[in-house]
Amino acid sequence: MPDVTPSRVRVWDLPTRVFHWALAVSFLGLIVSGKIAAGAMPWHARFGYLVASLLLFRSIWGFVGGRWSRFGSFVHSPRSILRHVRGHGDPKHAVGHNPLGAMSVWALLLFLMAQVATGLFSDDRLEFSGPLSAFVSESTVKLVTSYHRYVGQRVLIGLVALHLGAIAYYRLRRKQDLIGPMLRGDKQLAFSAPASRDDLVSRLAAAALFAACAGAVAWLVSLGPS
Ligand code: HEM
Ligand code: HEM
Repeated sequence: MPDVTPSRVRVWDLPTRVFHWALAVSFLGLIVSGKIAAGAMPWHARFGYLVASLLLFRSIWGFVGGRWSRFGSFVHSPRSILRHVRGHGDPKHAVGHNPLGAMSVWALLLFLMAQVATGLFSDDRLEFSGPLSAFVSESTVKLVTSYHRYVGQRVLIGLVALHLGAIAYYRLRRKQDLIGPMLRGDKQLAFSAPASRDDLVSRLAAAALFAACAGAVAWLVSLGPS
């Protein structure tokens, strides 16, 4: 039974936090390995498969995970986004992702998915080809590789810069610490709010779900030439 407390509330369950920090580290690994290229592509692919598993996990966790990690809790109307930007938003929207933060989360998740999907069909014509590139035509490989290389990576780097800039803005201007809750899970609130479920059973279920997602990605990759 989720507890209802007026002050300290578990907002980000452990699986969401592990998802986030594993994603952040893998993203750095992908940029570095993608840029080094020579000799680093096997690592690029490993980080890419990890991100694919994380995104698949998060897509399901968004329906069955802790209350504030559920997608339904951070779908906001353009009106409430506008009110939030003007500083007249509903304070209850600050429990999970606020209306502006939610937009950046959706954009990050969608472009990360596009980057992983195009990576699987990309070919650097030197030493590495994505495991599914053998299943599509040469012109498709060319098209998705140029998206992966020139569009997707730039959009993502831009979105991550905005993400970090927004977090710094909330810290410095609005005196709101968003990083602490993403590390420790709890938020200090001035009103009561229901907590996200984050007990041993839900954590074990998340671990099993992640293992199944990693298995599904490994199976997909195994379809390609070894
Ligand atoms: C040191 C670097 C980073 C810090 C300090 C950081 C911090 C945070 C914080 C505080 C939140 C919660 C925002 C909120 O309260 O609404 C968040 C959410 C998120 N961040 Fe980051 N972030 C970092 C790097 C990244 C990177 C590199 C990515 C992806 C490429 C990323 C993707 C996300 C996503 C997808 C969420 C939503 C989490 C969820 O609901 O599952 N972050 N981040
Ligand atoms: C979110 C996940 C990913 C990110 C952020 C990412 C990022 C990058 C970056 C920054 C580059 C270097 C582009 C340049 O030369 O400037 C690159 C190249 C490449 N990536 Fe990824 N990547 C991801 C996933 C994947 C996956 C899953 C695969 C396939 C297993 C893959 C395959 C490739 C290939 C083949 C190239 C070389 C393309 C070329 O230079 O012709 N990537 N990626």
